Amino acid sequence: MASVDVPVALLGYGTVGAAVNRLLTESADDIERATGHRLRLVKALVRDIDKERDYPPAGDVLTTDFREIADDPSIAVVAEVMGGLEPAGTHVLELLRGGKHVVSANKQLIARSGAKLFEAATSTGVQLRFEASVCAAIPVIKVLRESLVVTNVHRVLGIVNGTTNFVLTEMEGGKTYAQALAEAQERGYAEADPTDDVSGADAAAKMAILATVAFKSRFDLADVDYTGITEIDPADVNAARQLDMVIRLVGVAQHLDGHVDVRVHPALVDKQHPLAKVDGAFNAVMLQGDAIREITLEGPGAGGIETASAVIADITTVIGTMRTGFLQNDAAWRVLPKLPPGDNRSPFYFRMSVEDRPGALAQVADELARREISIARLLQHQNGDGAELHVVTHQARQGALEDALVALGELSSVHRRSRPLPVVSDRGVSELGWA
Ligand code: NAP
Ligand code: HSE
Repeated sequence: MASVDVPVALLGYGTVGAAVNRLLTESADDIERATGHRLRLVKALVRDIDKERDYPPAGDVLTTDFREIADDPSIAVVAEVMGGLEPAGTHVLELLRGGKHVVSANKQLIARSGAKLFEAATSTGVQLRFEASVCAAIPVIKVLRESLVVTNVHRVLGIVNGTTNFVLTEMEGGKTYAQALAEAQERGYAEADPTDDVSGADAAAKMAILATVAFKSRFDLADVDYTGITEIDPADVNAARQLDMVIRLVGVAQHLDGHVDVRVHPALVDKQHPLAKVDGAFNAVMLQGDAIREITLEGPGAGGIETASAVIADITTVIGTMRTGFLQNDAAWRVLPKLPPGDNRSPFYFRMSVEDRPGALAQVADELARREISIARLLQHQNGDGAELHVVTHQARQGALEDALVALGELSSVHRRSRPLPVVSDRGVSELGWA
């Protein structure tokens, strides 16, 4: 059968864009054998044509003029790998409205402007695909949309940012936060501005996308409660080690009793739990649902070639499903309410410095018991003339724990207290009936 020639364009030719061209070039024969289509990079939009590049493209591929892509009728598919909200958002909207298929690796754009972009794609009958925007090489969007189409997925739990996981793992090995972050940037894992990685905004955008696809209702970045790793203190890392746990930046999206809760926080993860074994720039996503019980997908969560493999997979799916099927539709078709603030339930860890005298521990236990919070584990260390308490609770309402901590902070016997961190363990999962 004669091969079909498919001219492809890129918006961006940085870490991911150059890797897409490398894979398209080096795997051209494999792609053609598998799909019957010859994918050929014809244009790539950049800011600076003269910049030195890792895998320079041939001839006149690089351009600073978006019109050379938007106005070229021979280009049917464009991969957006430039990042940022603008001008990427305006360009993607124009391409979709102009009848071109778009695949995007840009989680911030999809998480914030997904509704508008899908409306444009639907109106012109083209596809907008975004596998590369979540967990790089891990095909989690495809699994949720296709393989689990009849499964009622009610919980998504995961490590979805490679940079922070790399930093936390390297810190366990003795590197400083700054050294580890600089290495993540050098390896191409971090965003152009790593603030989004370390603040949790990158992971929050990915969890919003996962929640939208898993629960078929739109959640955007503003719906996600998140904190990053910037305030993780060596004392947290040490306390975790003593409790036989590790610190990880964990994303959780839950659909419970008709309400949805999506959050990203540093958490203490039990060393026996699968997420504790996810090291370096790897990501893992655990999907829990009615028929499947639990499926875990793990793999490289950042990096040029890793992300490029998902970009090219999306392009080949586009050419394999043009003008047919349901995958060009927006995944979100219903509206689910958000869980009221404070109603989130989890086991939690916190620590506090108290006076070392009779009754001090009883006061802590009493404030917790009044709010039906039960202590699962307790460590006590002498700390100068006081005592440092490390407390792990059973499942508790976050709002109730926060109230208890405010009340405890007002006691004269309590000198300092940390903010609570959620704890991830198999015990927590089975308590909720998910395993
Ligand atoms: P990058 O290395 O910073 O590359 C960005 C590219 O876009 C550069 O070629 C840049 O041009 C071009 N660009 C940026 N702003 C532009 C503008 N206003 N006009 C024209 N061109 C512009 O970024 P990256 O790491 O490849 O990431 C790209 C996207 O993939 C982001 O959305 C990111 O979140 C996502 N992603 C990255 C990874 C990863 O591991 N790196 C993984 C998954 C998803 P110049 O080269 O001329 O500066
Ligand atoms: N900066 C992101 C990360 C790239 O570290 O996970 C993948 O989206």
